[in-house]
Amino acid sequence: MATIILGIETSCDDTAAAVLVDGKLRANVVSQQLEHENYGGVIPELASRAHVERIVAVVETSLSKANIDKKDLTAVAYTQGPGLLGSLLVGNAFAKSLSLALNIPLIAVHHMQAHLLVHFIDDAFPTPHFPFLGLTVSGGHTQLVRVDSASSFDVLGETLDDAAGEAFDKTGKMLGLPYPAGPIMDKYAALGTAKFTFGKPTVADLNFSFSGLKTSVLYFLRSEQDKDPDFIKNNLHDLCASVQAAIVSILVEKVKTAVKQTGLKQVVLGGGVSANSGLRKALETCNITLFLPPLPYTTDNAAMIAMAGYLKYKAGAFDSLSNEPKARVLI
Ligand code: KG4
Ligand code: ZN
Repeated sequence: MATIILGIETSCDDTAAAVLVDGKLRANVVSQQLEHENYGGVIPELASRAHVERIVAVVETSLSKANIDKKDLTAVAYTQGPGLLGSLLVGNAFAKSLSLALNIPLIAVHHMQAHLLVHFIDDAFPTPHFPFLGLTVSGGHTQLVRVDSASSFDVLGETLDDAAGEAFDKTGKMLGLPYPAGPIMDKYAALGTAKFTFGKPTVADLNFSFSGLKTSVLYFLRSEQDKDPDFIKNNLHDLCASVQAAIVSILVEKVKTAVKQTGLKQVVLGGGVSANSGLRKALETCNITLFLPPLPYTTDNAAMIAMAGYLKYKAGAFDSLSNEPKARVLI
């Protein structure tokens, strides 16, 4: 009999559901919340309300796209954390209700682990072998992780302040770009030259820091705008290229150090920022075996939750109905 996993993702501002049959993706539905665009960031209360409004339709659409009846589901996997508590609660309550109503196992998934485990989907893209080095770069996290198995994740380094995605979004906001600024900055960066330089952080070990860059961009813009009030408008593409180059160089430098320290040559990327073309290009020139997720699997999606859930299901790692969502949870 086939193992059919329904994955549910509601950790931030995307309501998503996916169906995985024996490790193969049959449906992957994401409803992006555009409500936050005008606020320069995700408004938690708006996000949880939007999840409540969308979750039923998103799950139903994923089942009908996969041509699966809910009574045929083997298990339901959902994002337990990390994320916004109100958002996580919606997925948690929905998954628990399905588990109870259908009498199928409930599987709680760690969002950041799932960003890396998406590479194991038995479909179009190449799969890494354990052990490997993971770089998770999203709006909330930036971590270098040693992954020895689907259930063994060791954080080697992480950001001490802002996440890489946050660095894109916050500097993008200074440049007048709407939230999330990362994808727009990526597009504009391709049209410009990285001619402005910003101070580099000096952070020990494999940890990251992006708050210094943010401050450096802020002071640079202030001083240039004193001379030319239209400085941003006149230099937008070059500014985007320069900020992107600074963020990418911080990330790439640490990846190189981690490869040297661990001897692990397979580097697996996950999280929204792994869509960044500058980061992809820079890592491609390093002497590593690089695993880049196809673009639809970089930002938040439920395919990765279903995949991580499938691996836990195969290991018999189920969770009880008393399982709670966790806004902060260590990898
Ligand atoms: O993984 P994700 O969808 O959500 C979180 O778990 O946070 O990541 C969202 C982040 C945002 O900060 C967004 O600006 C960034 O990923 N992002 C990008 C690109 N696409 C998304 N940053 C840079 N370049 C991109 N192409
Ligand atoms: Zn994410």
